[in-house]
Amino acid sequence: MNAKLIDGKAISAKKREEIRQKSELFEKETGRKICLAVVLIGNDPASEVYVRNKIRGCEATNIKSLSYTLPATITQAQAEEVVRALAVDDAVDGILVQLPLPAGLNETKILNLIPPEKDVDGFHPVNVGNLVLGKESTVACTPMGVMTMLHEYGVEISGKNAVVIGRSNIVGKPMALLLLRENATVTVCHSKTKNLKEICKNADILVAAIGRPAFVTADMVKEGAVVIDVGINRVDGKLKGDVDFEKVGEKASYITPVPGGVGPMTITTLLENTYLCGVKRYRAKKR
Ligand code: GUN
Repeated sequence: MNAKLIDGKAISAKKREEIRQKSELFEKETGRKICLAVVLIGNDPASEVYVRNKIRGCEATNIKSLSYTLPATITQAQAEEVVRALAVDDAVDGILVQLPLPAGLNETKILNLIPPEKDVDGFHPVNVGNLVLGKESTVACTPMGVMTMLHEYGVEISGKNAVVIGRSNIVGKPMALLLLRENATVTVCHSKTKNLKEICKNADILVAAIGRPAFVTADMVKEGAVVIDVGINRVDGKLKGDVDFEKVGEKASYITPVPGGVGPMTITTLLENTYLCGVKRYRAKKR
């Protein structure tokens, strides 16, 4: 492989150590730990794994976690009541409701009950709006983690052609806005895009967030491109990204592996967002 690996695990370890030190200082100053409430509804196996890893991340960074595991049969009113109670609980700095929610629950209504200042996922319309406006906001963890990776490896963003494949609210849209904020020329591709291959071939930075294993092939990638693989697909019991790693790795200058790339950075960014929410709430109360 020609490309250098962007090691999400290594960056995560370094960032988590920084967060641990900062959250210990916070505890010394305030007499309490920063606190994240994690709500899991139903028993989607992938969500259970993600939530377990998020709680482990909290333990590693001196963040207190409160775990709420609720059955898939819970009513909309009951789910809303759980979030409402956490929203007004002064001891809770951040609230995360793991997605996807079981069928029948109104995701928008539940997520919008999380106050913007406790919205560690950056999903609230106020946070999304501030991102669009270029104002300070909490930003979705996966795209923010990708930006951290690009910064850590000194990837030049300003003036570069960035192509994002995927337009989800969690990854594609905020990813495009973050790259635009740093002066990339950004194209967002999706299932209806014509000439996908030609557009991707023009990318200096290519972010794949499609959810289809090995969707990005070497013929879609420019020589020397930086390729970021957000995909986590389970194929024959193994995790596979959205990028044909071996072949694309021959052409790219940098590439993220799956696993060990974007995945760990998502959780680390959640911990960072939680820390920042805690600090901002504390400062706002002192004023
Ligand atoms: N499900 C998949 N990714 C995410 C995420 O970043 N946050 C939440 N809350 N749920 C998810």
